[in-house]
Amino acid sequence: MPDNRPIGVFDSGIGGLTLVSGLARALPQERFLFFGDTAHLPYGDKSSKAVITYSQGILQFFARHGCKAVIIACNTASAVAYSYLERLWADSMAVFNVIDPVVQHCIDHLQASRIGVIGTKSTIRSRVYPRKFQQLASSVKVTTASAPLLAPMIEEGFYDNTISRTLIGAYLDKKQFQDIEALILGCTHYPLIRQEIEEYFSGRVSVVDNIQPTISAVSQKLADRDRLADQKKAGETAPAHHFFVSDFTQSFQETARIFFGASVELEQSDIWRLNTYS
Ligand code: DGL
Repeated sequence: MPDNRPIGVFDSGIGGLTLVSGLARALPQERFLFFGDTAHLPYGDKSSKAVITYSQGILQFFARHGCKAVIIACNTASAVAYSYLERLWADSMAVFNVIDPVVQHCIDHLQASRIGVIGTKSTIRSRVYPRKFQQLASSVKVTTASAPLLAPMIEEGFYDNTISRTLIGAYLDKKQFQDIEALILGCTHYPLIRQEIEEYFSGRVSVVDNIQPTISAVSQKLADRDRLADQKKAGETAPAHHFFVSDFTQSFQETARIFFGASVELEQSDIWRLNTYS
């Protein structure tokens, strides 16, 4: 039976709008509620305990809004909070992370035996990517490095220029990345510099982000469980998405356009009323 309840998507900030934009195009019948935890941004430097606590508050927010599924768009939260959230919430909402789909995609579609990963300090520290490959394809050698300045650089609109090229070079010009065949962009923000990274490697390395693999995994699983919304009929209006943040500022409002690719109205959420959220 079609399920017309909304799908929640959350991120530490607004970088996750890159994923929502792809999801809205791929699943036009679905209504998305986005939550950007701008009050606690960045997650990339926080402890696992803090990220789990914030994420748990956000899932309560989505549960209150009657979501049928939640997608953790943030790599850091996917790395450190997914198992906890999935255990707690799977009975009421399907919970997705952005890491399993991209790992599976690399195994199924790339014949790469040496893969690099870049992400925030917390994502890299968690060793989630090497662990997943070890479980599913132990012959793949995974090397990782954190690239903490890339996310703020992109948020400030510095990409496709000399500053971004210099910083990308500084992070990728490392011994452990010299012989990789594929690079996973393990952060919400990096799809915006994907082309620059491809150019850095002059096409020698397959550069993959989480967006398409996650969209495919979510679509497939919701279809398998018969939880997709009704297909819209010709002339019917598109579902109204909502874009909540935990702390609204004009600057976030302006940056949101960079990630969504079109202007969106951010709304201050009432999450602070939940006593689990602080
Ligand atoms: N959303 C985070 C991620 O994908 C990047 C920004 C942050 O550190 O919060 O890991």
